[in-house]
Amino acid sequence: MATILLKDGQVGCGLGVYDADVLIEDNKIVNTFDWGKEIKADKVIDCKGKLILPGLIDAHVHMREPGQSYKEDWETGSKAAVAGGITTVFDMPNNQPPILTVKDLDAKRALIADRSYCNYGLFIGFNGKNISEINKAKNIAGVKVYAATSTGNMIVGGGDIEKLFKKCNKTIVVHAEDEVSIAENTETYLAEFDGREIDPSIHSKIRSPECAAKAVKFVCELAKKSGHKLHVAHVSSDQEIAVILEYRDSGVTCEVSPHHLLLSEDDYGQLNNFIKVNPPVRSRTNVFGMWKALKFGEIDIVATDHAPHTFVEKQQGYMQAPSGMPELETLLPIMLNAVNSEGLEVKELVKLCCEGPAKLFGVKGKGQIEVGFDADIVVVDMDMEREVKNEELFTKCGWSPYHGSVFKGWPIMTFVGGELVFKGGKVVGKKVGKEVEFEG
Ligand code: DOR
Ligand code: ZN
Repeated sequence: MATILLKDGQVGCGLGVYDADVLIEDNKIVNTFDWGKEIKADKVIDCKGKLILPGLIDAHVHMREPGQSYKEDWETGSKAAVAGGITTVFDMPNNQPPILTVKDLDAKRALIADRSYCNYGLFIGFNGKNISEINKAKNIAGVKVYAATSTGNMIVGGGDIEKLFKKCNKTIVVHAEDEVSIAENTETYLAEFDGREIDPSIHSKIRSPECAAKAVKFVCELAKKSGHKLHVAHVSSDQEIAVILEYRDSGVTCEVSPHHLLLSEDDYGQLNNFIKVNPPVRSRTNVFGMWKALKFGEIDIVATDHAPHTFVEKQQGYMQAPSGMPELETLLPIMLNAVNSEGLEVKELVKLCCEGPAKLFGVKGKGQIEVGFDADIVVVDMDMEREVKNEELFTKCGWSPYHGSVFKGWPIMTFVGGELVFKGGKVVGKKVGKEVEFEG
């Protein structure tokens, strides 16, 4: 039984920060002690001046296997996760081919086994016809529904979504944008360009906040009527939040992604289609609105929507460039930077990125530094200031929208199941990631 003691650090939890030593035995947290106690361990790691947090749980990533491993694969994607202090990811089903059956899920499980540095859970997709497969699927995060076109073309109609709410027995996560409004707006705004090169900022007009709010309203009504659990993916605007607040009593939850907390329409000038994403980046007012909603507890979790595409793909013109951007390595630094300079509290970060996703999706034994929980832990240096550099990233796509930005607060060590997998900027451990267990 190998033991590790994380000594003299400060532990973050959903109530605040406290001084404690953390004892790990094999893959579990076996105890926490007041500083100064004589505790024996096989290995003692000095964490003086450092913050010890539960490993982050990212409930929304696109790892790109099967089918698009030229953009990202499980090795590179899970390296990026642990380098970013993320110890568990839930992978989306918009692969090639899409994940729609129990067989697809099992094939994906076989593909990932022994290749992941971080833990993982899987989503199944919905194509309008596979409700019985969804209901048969075991141990999944939930079912992902695309109410609008995006990478993978998994859009389904309103009638089918209504059926799913009535008949399915899993958590429903919806990408909520209204396809009819998108089609109308596309025609209107593209006409303005009349053969000239299209300005990427058109994306935020075509897929407007109204268009997102309309779809959010539609699915919230279905959740209310059916009594079924609904989680709205990547909210990006005040309008969507306003709708969700009306349906809080029906158990509707939501997430925000880091790009909607940091990037805005003002950034198209510099970043062009590199920040093309669905739903799009919004006005600065909406960015502020997302922080306000986080502070007021109106947003349940932060999830990356890590959606890697190659540099070459993103360099294309508006019509060709795919939507999405990598985020695994920058989520925690962005949040820690906000703790350092924007008044976010460590307890809020832990609730939004660790405890919240564990509770919302019913993950067993994760999201807290507590006796008996899995030893998924990230040690953080709150004083480290580091510039994001494309050439230092682990994601296969090799670029970040934050290249050149300096964040204060970085992960320096990541443990997955008690194994040190990331230290001092390097992936040092083995591929110890396992599929998580969901309650129910
Ligand atoms: O921008 C996005 N990219 N939005 C999505 O819904 C999918 C994602 C991807 O998989 O590329
Ligand atoms: Zn996504």
